[in-house]
Amino acid sequence: MKISDLGEIQGDMLLFGGIYSNLAALKALLLVAKQKNIPAENCICTGDIVAYCADAEGSVNAVRAFSCPVLAGNCEVQLSEDAQDCGCGFEEGTECSILSRGWYAHAVRQVSDKNKLWMGGLPDRIVFTHNARRYAVIHGGATDIARFIWPVTDDATIAAEISTLIGQVGHIDHIIASHSGIPMQRVIGDTTWTNIGAIGMPCNNGSSLTSYGYLKEKEIIIKELEYDANVTISTMKSAGLTQGYQNTLQSGYWPSQDTLPPEMRHQSFAKGW
Ligand SMILES: [Fe+2]
Repeated sequence: MKISDLGEIQGDMLLFGGIYSNLAALKALLLVAKQKNIPAENCICTGDIVAYCADAEGSVNAVRAFSCPVLAGNCEVQLSEDAQDCGCGFEEGTECSILSRGWYAHAVRQVSDKNKLWMGGLPDRIVFTHNARRYAVIHGGATDIARFIWPVTDDATIAAEISTLIGQVGHIDHIIASHSGIPMQRVIGDTTWTNIGAIGMPCNNGSSLTSYGYLKEKEIIIKELEYDANVTISTMKSAGLTQGYQNTLQSGYWPSQDTLPPEMRHQSFAKGW
C-alpha cells in the first residue's frame, strides 16, 4: 500500500473528487481555488478523474497541470492495470454494469499511455495534519477501494472501516472519502467520516449542482459547485456517450439506482422521470 504523508498543511483546503471526465466541472472547481486564493498544495483530489463524461484525457491533463496531491480512485487503478471494467463490482446484467461498458471503453481509448502510467503511481492513502487534527484521505472504504459507504450505512460498518484504516495509517481524527458520489458526514466516537461527494455528477437528488469539501479550521463544509453542464453534455453527445448520464447533468437524477441501498432509491424513479 502506498501512503503519501503531506505533513502539516496550513490554511484553508479544497477537497474534491469524482471528476468523471467532466472537464467543465473541473475548470469551475479550479476557479473556486483561484478565487479563494487556495494554492494547489492545499487542494486534494480523491480520485476517479475519469468516468462517465467525455473529456477523460483532458481532465487528467488538467489535474496534472494543476499539480495538487492526487489519490488513486478505482478508475485510475483499473485503467493503469488495463483492466476490463471500472472495478465497481457491478453485478453482470445490471443497469450500472451495462452503462459502465460505454464510458469505460471510451476512457480506455482516450487516456494516453503516459497518463495511465502516472495513474499507476498514485497513492492509496494520503495523510496530513491540519490545525492539530490528523486526516486520512481514502477513495471508497479502507477495506476496499470501491466500497460504497452511504448516508444510510450503519455505524458499526463505518466503525469497522475506521478501525481498519487506523491499523493502516495510525491515529486519525477525520476521514475524507468519496467514490459513492453522495456527500455525507458522520461522527463515530472521536472520529469524523466525511464523504465529499463528486464534482463531475450530481448526487441523485434532482439538483444539477455537484459537490466538494472545503476544510476551514477544524471543519469540512460540503459546498455546492455550479458550472455550465451544456459544455459537458455537448462533448458527450459528440463522443456518442448518450446512454443516460448526459441527462443526469441537468436532471440531477442518475440513469440507474442499482448501486443504491433500497431505502435511498426514489419511489418515482420506477415510473420514469
Ligand atoms: Fe470510485
